[in-house]
Amino acid sequence: MSYQMNLRIWRGTAKGGGLVDYPVTVADGEVVLDLVHRVQSTQAGDLAVRWNCKAGKCGSCSAEINGRPRLMCMTRMSALPRDAITITPLRTFPVIRDLVCDVSFNYRKAMEIPSFTPPADLKPGEYRMRQADVTRPQEFRKCIECWLCQTVCHVIRDHDDNKPAFAGPRFFIRHAELDMHPLDTADRRDQLREAHGLGLCNITKCCTEVCPEGIKITDNAIIPMKERVVDRRYDPLRRLFPRWRRK
Ligand code: SF4
Ligand code: F3S
Ligand code: FES
Repeated sequence: MSYQMNLRIWRGTAKGGGLVDYPVTVADGEVVLDLVHRVQSTQAGDLAVRWNCKAGKCGSCSAEINGRPRLMCMTRMSALPRDAITITPLRTFPVIRDLVCDVSFNYRKAMEIPSFTPPADLKPGEYRMRQADVTRPQEFRKCIECWLCQTVCHVIRDHDDNKPAFAGPRFFIRHAELDMHPLDTADRRDQLREAHGLGLCNITKCCTEVCPEGIKITDNAIIPMKERVVDRRYDPLRRLFPRWRRK
């Protein structure tokens, strides 16, 4: 059954803005993005919002709904209060307009990570992957780059000055995916510890809680990478013989 509610949307630019109320009718089965589109088509044609697939797969429609980072296309109205909800842009990144943020921070961090580096002398067909090595990082490849984990992480959400030295949970799983590959020869641990700030993560697990793909970011990527970094740094044998790598 349909009902009336108040959609409160942040409108503005980098110079400033505020919440604007839009009365809307909600129908059965609708998601937040349906309502934003309705506002856009009936009351605010200039409302800026990013979206693409409406199926939880492109990662474009991220926003904060009642203060919690979520995908608008995957958040059912039936799971939210019926009188009013507030939609604001991702708090961690600079706003461009309305619900659209500048998320280029994430692309810069992505470019800093060296790509997969197999042994230079390895010929095609010379190495047979074990199923376990295929399965283990599979989870990390489900990432849709929605940046919800990045925006919720307090290390940069509350401290803009940490951004230069912190890559964020999405890129901790990228490091883990590459480091767990048995043929990757790059040693990523110094970068992870120094330039990408793995030590700043104090395992609050907020990133894991908001991930729409259900990736166990903290347990399966961050904690194993913290162990690997510590292994290397404090184990005298590994420091003397760095080629003894545990993959
Ligand atoms: Fe989004 Fe999850 Fe990827 Fe983070 S790890 S960017 S929350 S899909
Ligand atoms: Fe941030 Fe996730 Fe660590 S939210 S503090 S990266 S566990
Ligand atoms: Fe693609 Fe929401 S529109 S994830």
